[in-house]
Amino acid sequence: MKVTHQALRSLFADFWESKGHKEVPPIPLVPQNDPTTLFTGSGMQPLVPYLLGEPHPLGEKLYNIQPCFRAQDIEEVGNNRHTTAFEMMGNWSLGTYFKKEQITWFHTFLTRIIKLDPSKLHVTVFEGSRDIPKDEESAKLWRSLGIPKERIYFYGTEKNWWSRSGKPEGMPAGEPGGPDTEVFYDFGEERKIHENSSFKDKKCHPNCDCGRFIEIGNSVFMQYQKQKDGSFKELPKKNVDFGGGFERILAAIYDDPDVFKSDLYEAIIATIVDVSGKKYDEESNKQAIRIIADHLKASVFLIVDGVTPSNKEQGYVLRRLLRRAAVKMRSLKGSLGKGEDFRRISESVLETYGEVYFSKAKDLKIIAGVIEDEITKFQKSLERGLREVQKVKDINGKVAFDFYQTYGFPLELTEELFRERGQSVNHEQFQKEFENHKNLSRSASAGKFKGGLADHSDQVLKYHTATHLMHQALFDVLGEGVKQEGSNITKDRFRFDFSSLKKFTKEDVQKTEDIINKKVKEELPMRFKIMTKDEAYEIGARSFFREKYPDKVKVYYLGGEDDKPETAYSKEFCGGPHVKNTKEIGKIKIYKFENIGSNLYRLYAK
Ligand code: ALA
Repeated sequence: MKVTHQALRSLFADFWESKGHKEVPPIPLVPQNDPTTLFTGSGMQPLVPYLLGEPHPLGEKLYNIQPCFRAQDIEEVGNNRHTTAFEMMGNWSLGTYFKKEQITWFHTFLTRIIKLDPSKLHVTVFEGSRDIPKDEESAKLWRSLGIPKERIYFYGTEKNWWSRSGKPEGMPAGEPGGPDTEVFYDFGEERKIHENSSFKDKKCHPNCDCGRFIEIGNSVFMQYQKQKDGSFKELPKKNVDFGGGFERILAAIYDDPDVFKSDLYEAIIATIVDVSGKKYDEESNKQAIRIIADHLKASVFLIVDGVTPSNKEQGYVLRRLLRRAAVKMRSLKGSLGKGEDFRRISESVLETYGEVYFSKAKDLKIIAGVIEDEITKFQKSLERGLREVQKVKDINGKVAFDFYQTYGFPLELTEELFRERGQSVNHEQFQKEFENHKNLSRSASAGKFKGGLADHSDQVLKYHTATHLMHQALFDVLGEGVKQEGSNITKDRFRFDFSSLKKFTKEDVQKTEDIINKKVKEELPMRFKIMTKDEAYEIGARSFFREKYPDKVKVYYLGGEDDKPETAYSKEFCGGPHVKNTKEIGKIKIYKFENIGSNLYRLYAK
């Protein structure tokens, strides 16, 4: 008979209680008083002070099952074993027992309590590094429990060292960490992708990425603290920090490497199958169904812990999960379907966990409300965005950013859509665009981004249009070596800064002024046209080199034929507003001229 997920919870609790452990309550997924991380990603997170020596109110032996969320795994979800949301089974020794008890007890739990076949267990042990010795003791303990040498593997700090920040080099001073020993369950499926394995001799290893071996538990011997000078000091007391993936241990019990096939996902997958009309057993549906199952489950947990979709931090992660789930639903069904579908899936998440984490009656309303609201918001731009994706030939960070800004497509979604077409996005470029955007909107809200046009009085509109005339007139006088460096308008005058490769003289001031006044007299109409940035550059529109322009821009043009900015006297990237005709400007006088740096000039006019 299969062990259900509820039964596994009790077996685990009873086992550790029988060894004198006390249950610590799980903490919320959004940790309080911990600015270092957005989410709770392991059971030990709230225990750091105790691992460093503080006495814990419940004593020295602790255990629990902690809901966790790892956003960094978002892109891996879709295979048989990765999820963003998972539960971590944990037990801790705060300076009391150490390797012998931990390894023996965990082995007992696996082989006697949940009755895994001992011959399917493989273990990895720390091989030592410059500062830390090889963990012979753990290897010996595993051998004494009947694990043969061939199933004990040694790895370095990249695999068998654990701290919240990863490898020893990456740890900040003060953080605890140590060597660990991991247990893998052998699902016995030799796969064909070992060539991709980054490990040693390409042979299938526990740490090979092929999916044959799945890690089901990690005992960290947390006995060191990183010092300011980079060295490691032994903690006064040696701790054990154990973490085991609840979903994966269930998979081992089921002897099926697909974690989504245990009873924990049964109701959730069944609802997705029902709503989408697609079978889970068909290979081509699996990835999408798994992503929807994981992302909605994670969303339910996050929403219950108070997260709502937004454009920053936890809220943005939730938004990404919901939008990616929506896209996958659409790919399964051919349409997004009803908001009601997502409500039913969230309901199945609540049903699955029952009273373990939720109060169904109370939580469903809130959760379903948040989810339906976000899906509805996304629905319209999703269709337009997906059509637009078809049209784009080359993807880059800039395009990906535009999809984010215009259609609300999170980066990994855009990446995924293009990856399906064999193209990849430059992350760095995207991040850069993203930072620029943030700075831009920050200064916009601070009122700093009004380009000297805070005031839209008639006088200011006239001066603004006059700067366009001046910009082009300077090109007429000095040729292509002119570059606008900035402009500033008040109701009393306008100022124009520019650099020029050619020396700008007193005579040139006069020439410039004459051209402006001539154009004023010609009564040129001011119009605008929206076009792509490339088209705008092609017709010679002037831009301001300090500004980042979106892919679609507004070009204001003076004179020429209607709808043909290419025939106009002046064309410029600009948001407006302007006067309708140069005749409104009146006569312009350049009353001051300064040389403000090498090749740098400043004109004042009214
Ligand atoms: N804290 C350890 C882990 O997350 C057990 O693997």
